[in-house]
Amino acid sequence: MIDAFEKVPVQIFPSPKEGSAFVASEIATLIKSKAAKNETCVLGLATGSTPIKLYQELVRLHKEEGLSFKNVVTFNLDEYFPIEQDAPQSYWSFMHKHLFNHIDIDPKNIHIPSGKWPKEDIKKHCAEYDAAIIKAGGIDLQILGIGGNGHIGFNEPGSSFHSKTRVIHLDQLTRMANVYEWHDLNKVPKLAITVGISSIMKAKKIVLLAWGNKADIVAKAVEGDVTEQLPASVLQNHDDCTFVI
Ligand code: PGA
Repeated sequence: MIDAFEKVPVQIFPSPKEGSAFVASEIATLIKSKAAKNETCVLGLATGSTPIKLYQELVRLHKEEGLSFKNVVTFNLDEYFPIEQDAPQSYWSFMHKHLFNHIDIDPKNIHIPSGKWPKEDIKKHCAEYDAAIIKAGGIDLQILGIGGNGHIGFNEPGSSFHSKTRVIHLDQLTRMANVYEWHDLNKVPKLAITVGISSIMKAKKIVLLAWGNKADIVAKAVEGDVTEQLPASVLQNHDDCTFVI
């Protein structure tokens, strides 16, 4: 039942494990239905603590239930800038550690913004990233987390709803939330590359996951006004978006 205050459908699960299993099974169904038609399945993927259990379940479905990722193409949302690809804190490392190293995806189907793009060419690379998503047929299913400040990807409060893939200054709250990956706030990069809000909104289907201490920001995103000061609130304008909490 949809609550009268909710402007986005919300599905509530007793635990992150159960919520993650539900989303993993939706992804598996989509991958298999695309494979049956000989089509690729284009997934938009997120990093952070939130999707770790989802990726564990996808790995389990691959290893124990034979789910193949051969027809899957992925586009990650963001990456620190600058960062070495194989730095332990890079999202390239995160994705390989939690998902890509354990499944049968073709490495050439994996796309992650590069923290090594030369500064002078970065606009071109960001435009190419958006173009590659379109060329792949668009995102069939976008997985999102939400920051404590309401960001999606690294689209911090104030990001235009028309924004495309670009370099962004990380909010101090985001740098503090991610300090656990770096041990020292001074080491957390001040910049990142993020897929823009307009690119996220073009996904055919969006699932936002949120666990733990995100209740307040989720409530504002789902029940409050649509405002660029709370980027996740834009999802109220998407035709097929669900919050899994
Ligand atoms: P988290 O980050 O999963 O580590 O809470 C989510 C986000 O910032 O989008």
